[in-house]
Amino acid sequence: MLIPVILSGGTGSRLWPLSRELYPKQLLNLVNQDTSLLQDTVLRLPTTPDIQAPIVVCNEAHRFMVAEQLHAINKPATRILLEPIGRNTAPAIAIAAWQAMAINAEAVLLVLPADHTIANLPHFHQVIAQGNAQALAGKLVTFGIVPDYPETGYGYIDAGEEVSTGVRHISQFVEKPSAEVAKQYCQSGHHFWNSGMFMFRADRYLQELKQFAPQIHQATQQAFEQAIEDLDFVRLDQKAFAGSPEDSIDYAVMEHTQASVVIPADLGWSDVGSWTALADLTPPDAHGNVQRGDVLVENTSDCYIRAEHRLVTTVGVSNLVIVETKDAVLVANKDQVQSVKQLVNQLASQQ
Ligand code: GDD
Ligand code: MG
Repeated sequence: MLIPVILSGGTGSRLWPLSRELYPKQLLNLVNQDTSLLQDTVLRLPTTPDIQAPIVVCNEAHRFMVAEQLHAINKPATRILLEPIGRNTAPAIAIAAWQAMAINAEAVLLVLPADHTIANLPHFHQVIAQGNAQALAGKLVTFGIVPDYPETGYGYIDAGEEVSTGVRHISQFVEKPSAEVAKQYCQSGHHFWNSGMFMFRADRYLQELKQFAPQIHQATQQAFEQAIEDLDFVRLDQKAFAGSPEDSIDYAVMEHTQASVVIPADLGWSDVGSWTALADLTPPDAHGNVQRGDVLVENTSDCYIRAEHRLVTTVGVSNLVIVETKDAVLVANKDQVQSVKQLVNQLASQQ
């Protein structure tokens, strides 16, 4: 049995001002006109006979939007697990694993962030089938993307010997290395980016978590046992869940486990992690511009310009991201779009 687990808890602050706390990027029609990134994630799932409806893990505040979006595409979730607060991905996945254990202890989880895009669907489905076999055998499976620049916001996987066709042992997993180290990894020829998607049996994840992050294991078990079921929603116990340390699966488990493998995969993958990442998903015009909405430009090149409510015009500028929304406008140098996150932190501290 294969159970997709969709992580929909991030705030997507690098895509401010479109992505907001109450309306984060995974719930927006950012790439396709008619579907949100969350809906795209569900519609992209394989349709093998053993696959179940997904478990979605999200913040309480988003429950109605998440439920509505899944109903709108006729793909309701098995359960929507509601976090009272974000504790990062290690606890979020643990909760899903406890839920899956209640269905089938040996269920394989296919963990998918709700905010990625994948262009090569046949290959995606093929590597899921390969991953399923590894996961059934007890492995913690990752999918490796060939790095094309030294991104410091990703995890890096040092791939070792082949354990079966297309599957390699992980010699080392390093989450978010320094710029210098990322540069070395990029050039090594045997390092991959961690895509952030995982496959493992629910019981195997919980075993590894118990070994490497026992407090997360214990707190999430309690939060699930004391949860309240409310239609399709499962409300985790607030006090128990708040007692979990905050950590990502990458730091808490993947850097330590000896049971991990990587399947290198050429998926046409993007985590839509910044405005430039989003811009890269659309072929630019002859001047290198990508325009969305009511936009008029003159002598403008290499810009991403998005107008939501008003006409946006530019003259004589280049290499900018310009995003207009009802109550805020962002103008950023394309080389510094990662710093939008700091801007949002600053805004939050002023409120
Ligand atoms: N439900 C829930 N609760 N989901 C969460 C939470 C949480 O507390 N925190 C994050 N998520 C979701 C995000 O919405 C996103 O879809 C996914 O989990 C990954 O979280 P990020 O915060 O985006 O992680 P990251 O980008 O720093 O790093 C991860 O992804 C990279 C690739 O995009 C790591 O797995 C890296 O190793 C990887 O390279
Ligand atoms: Mg991310």
